[in-house]
Amino acid sequence: MIFTVAIDGPAAAGKGTIGRAVAAHFGFAHLDTGLLYRAVGALVLKGAEPVAAARDLTPDALEQPGLRSPEVAQAASEVAVIPEVRAALLDFQRGFARREGGAVLDGRDIGTVICPAAEVKLFVTASAEARAGRRLAELLESGHATDMAAVLADVRARDARDESRAAAPLRPAEDAHVIDTSDLTVEAAIAAAVARVAAAGARS
Ligand code: DC
Repeated sequence: MIFTVAIDGPAAAGKGTIGRAVAAHFGFAHLDTGLLYRAVGALVLKGAEPVAAARDLTPDALEQPGLRSPEVAQAASEVAVIPEVRAALLDFQRGFARREGGAVLDGRDIGTVICPAAEVKLFVTASAEARAGRRLAELLESGHATDMAAVLADVRARDARDESRAAAPLRPAEDAHVIDTSDLTVEAAIAAAVARVAAAGARS
């Protein structure tokens, strides 16, 4: 069975958590496409040229340590504005989406550019404050020294860059179902997503 769930939305809205849970529920494969841009960003921080790094990206580059750091997030956001970088990552994502057995991809442009024919499109969002609060908790837990003002400023700067870039800006596809997680528990957000995917015909 080929079945694609496209999940888009801003940083720290809950896409990854929802994507993993939906994939586990239906037995689908899951790809966090932000990791592709983070891997390219990490290689650029080590001196690589962005387009070459994207073209030569290997699956083990997605396993390299440090991809969740704020420095790599910043570098990822910068390489993500380069159309040739995005083009170099396209085939891998489309291949993943149409693999046998079902796939969930989460990112910024999955429903709009990568998989416009996805069986289900979700746009997972939340207020900047809610997202910054979650990101702060994650960063503190993983030992990064920071505070709410810095994280909120960072979330807003990344939103602005992701939404205003010319190449594949962040926006909901016309046929996306919006899930605002600002006031939802993790369980309620997952249940809403699972219900949408089931309603589109996926079987668990
Ligand atoms: O979701 P994330 O924070 O791991 O994404 C890292 C960066 O990559 C972020 O600035 C947006 C960008 N990105 C993108 O442009 N397109 C995607 N499909 C996924 C991520």
